[in-house]
Amino acid sequence: MKQYLKIDEWNIIEEGFNGDNHELSEGIFSIGNGYMGQRANFEEKYSGKSLQGSYMAGVYYPDKTRVGWWKNGYPEYFAKVLNSTNWIGIDFSVDGEVLDLATCEVKDFVRTLNMKEGYLHRSFIAKLPSGKEVKVDAKRFVSIVEKEIGAIRYSITPLNFEGTLSVSPYLDGDIKNKDSNYDEKFWDEVSKKSNLGQVSLVVKTKKLDFYVCSSMRYDIIQADKKVDFNGECIEKEKFAGNIVNLNVKQGEETVVYKYVSNVTSRDYKAEELLTVGKEALEKAYEKGFEVLLEEQAGAWAEKWKESDIVIKGDASAQQAIRFNIFQMNQTYTGEDDRLNIGPKGFTGEKYGGSTYWDTEAYCLPFYLSTADSRIAKNLLIYRYKQLEKAKENARKLGFTKGALYPMVTMNGEECHNEWEITFEEIHRNGAIAHAIYNYVNYTGDKSYLGQCGLDVLVEISRFWEERVNFASNKGKYVMLGVTGPNEYENNVNNNWYTNRIAAWTLEYTTEVIDYLKNNEAERYAELVKKLDLKEEEVNKWQDIIENMYYPIDEELGIFLQQDGYMDKEQILVKELDPKHLPLNQNWSWDRILRSCFIKQADVLQGLYFLEDRYDLETIRRNFEFYEPRTVHESSLSPCVHSILAAKLGEQEKAYEMYLRTARLDLDNYNNDTEDGCHITSMAGSWMSIVEGFGGMRVRDGKLTLNPFIPENWESFSFKVMFRGALLKVNIKKDKVAITNESQQGITLAVNGKDYTIAGVSEISA
Ligand code: BGC
Repeated sequence: MKQYLKIDEWNIIEEGFNGDNHELSEGIFSIGNGYMGQRANFEEKYSGKSLQGSYMAGVYYPDKTRVGWWKNGYPEYFAKVLNSTNWIGIDFSVDGEVLDLATCEVKDFVRTLNMKEGYLHRSFIAKLPSGKEVKVDAKRFVSIVEKEIGAIRYSITPLNFEGTLSVSPYLDGDIKNKDSNYDEKFWDEVSKKSNLGQVSLVVKTKKLDFYVCSSMRYDIIQADKKVDFNGECIEKEKFAGNIVNLNVKQGEETVVYKYVSNVTSRDYKAEELLTVGKEALEKAYEKGFEVLLEEQAGAWAEKWKESDIVIKGDASAQQAIRFNIFQMNQTYTGEDDRLNIGPKGFTGEKYGGSTYWDTEAYCLPFYLSTADSRIAKNLLIYRYKQLEKAKENARKLGFTKGALYPMVTMNGEECHNEWEITFEEIHRNGAIAHAIYNYVNYTGDKSYLGQCGLDVLVEISRFWEERVNFASNKGKYVMLGVTGPNEYENNVNNNWYTNRIAAWTLEYTTEVIDYLKNNEAERYAELVKKLDLKEEEVNKWQDIIENMYYPIDEELGIFLQQDGYMDKEQILVKELDPKHLPLNQNWSWDRILRSCFIKQADVLQGLYFLEDRYDLETIRRNFEFYEPRTVHESSLSPCVHSILAAKLGEQEKAYEMYLRTARLDLDNYNNDTEDGCHITSMAGSWMSIVEGFGGMRVRDGKLTLNPFIPENWESFSFKVMFRGALLKVNIKKDKVAITNESQQGITLAVNGKDYTIAGVSEISA
């Protein structure tokens, strides 16, 4: 664990420059707007350890699969969101000496991520090897108002000399992905133009023909006046920039304002890019940096109004949850249904920016409650649009019908290539079905079922139907050779969670069929035809629901994670010498597989999803059995445990689990934040507070709350949007106050008692 960031309620602050922390900070201080994202690299040259990272959402590359032992059914490629044109670059040198923090003495370094207003700020004094000192103040943001725009204000002041300052703003498309499988570069140049003060660069991916066009303009200000500068225009392969030499005096500030637009062929025709890019750039340039920044602050204020969580009495928890909410809002805005949420967002390259079951299982609740329902709906539509590919995927694996959604995907095709996950971690299909339930249950938007929901549910159900087999010795349906959410077990038979979520999908699908039959007869008739839905298959699903096999241990009164789980040597995590943890860094894979230790919620994931079907004592017995055997080596694990512990009234445990997720990246808890932040698990921290401490659920169309407050907090409040109402739920030690900030009245239940809150009013419970 590395704690070097200061606690502050609205800012992430790093004081003092330590090159060893730089890559970590580059991820943590990332900025993004759902459309593009940028690691906190320095604008000026930096020769120390760094991962330069600029990412355009949805611009990806099918990198040829790398695998030791090829197995039929593996995907040909792994899709990666590409590291693309470095648009932030401005190099500086003083009388020929380059400003590079790796070679300077750095004083008064402060890097701040301002989460309230959505910008990155950095200031420092650098002493160059010659002894010349400069003071720097740099601010930048990617606009959430003009999504194609990034803007930088970079000021530099000589402290002890006068001389020549060379300023080189540029666009560099000669970029490589760190995770490139064969060390290849993925970009080709299309065109470049370097005029004085105005530069453009168009690059194109070597495969799939994604074009990215970056255009930049800049101004230089000295003594409050625009400098009428002269300079050199540089064009090199995949690179275009300027070099401007200026006379600078001691104590006099030079400010460079750099404006960039990044547009891609995902939104425009390739031949239009230069024109639309220029238009977007001109519009931003006309507004100017300060106006753009003001708009940015205003737009972030709106986002906070809908999604903020305020914790009184614990500044560190306050900072952490805001950081999580900020990153979620930077990663996905829901405006484009072709996009999704990579586990690292735009903060690093691990996981390739692709979509995992994380989206449905962990991220959806955050967007359901903190944004208009169309945002969460777009996450569902993403999968709906990929249904044909999921059907192809099932065929590729030998299934004659149904759909198997990929474990990892960009465009609907499977990208993952480890047999135990690609072919076996099929529970992901269940999470995708459950997300439909979750969306409809939360929003009440049943029209989605007839529009898109049933198509997906039927095809997933067909997959489950073919994936189970009837075991005549048991007289039950079984599911063999799977990997559950606990990836520390592979190729197991009858993983309880997978069997349960499969049967649940069949149950829900038949429920939806009945609903449509009775309420949308015409649409239902169309769907029966379109999907070729047969009564026999629905009957077969019913038979599977009724006769699914579930491993249990009667004596302990628990669901067994899989057949034979109790054959394992039963040891608890607390009995392990801490030097063995994390197991994945200290034990051989063989030892992990044979052990009873659990990576992340598995049986408990099922009890979390389907909690209303189980009594409290069942949940308690399973929780008390499994949690002590769980090492939480996936960042997705603690939140589910926190929510269940809260439900069981185990407040201390709920809080302990919450702490493991909330500051995961800020404190580099798992020692892996250098790869980027754990974006999808950040949604889990939000869930721990709202569903855990707040006890928020939606039951029969009603919002219900069963809150408690962690002992060392004075109060906490969260915002939720529910069916047209915007609520602020404020939980204090002795009461719950709920403010309805919208015109829409609402009836909700607090600790089992109903309250009606008219529009724009408040109640105490
Ligand atoms: C977890 C998976 C998750 C993936 C991406 C893995 O470590 O076990 O459940 O989907 O990370 O976050």
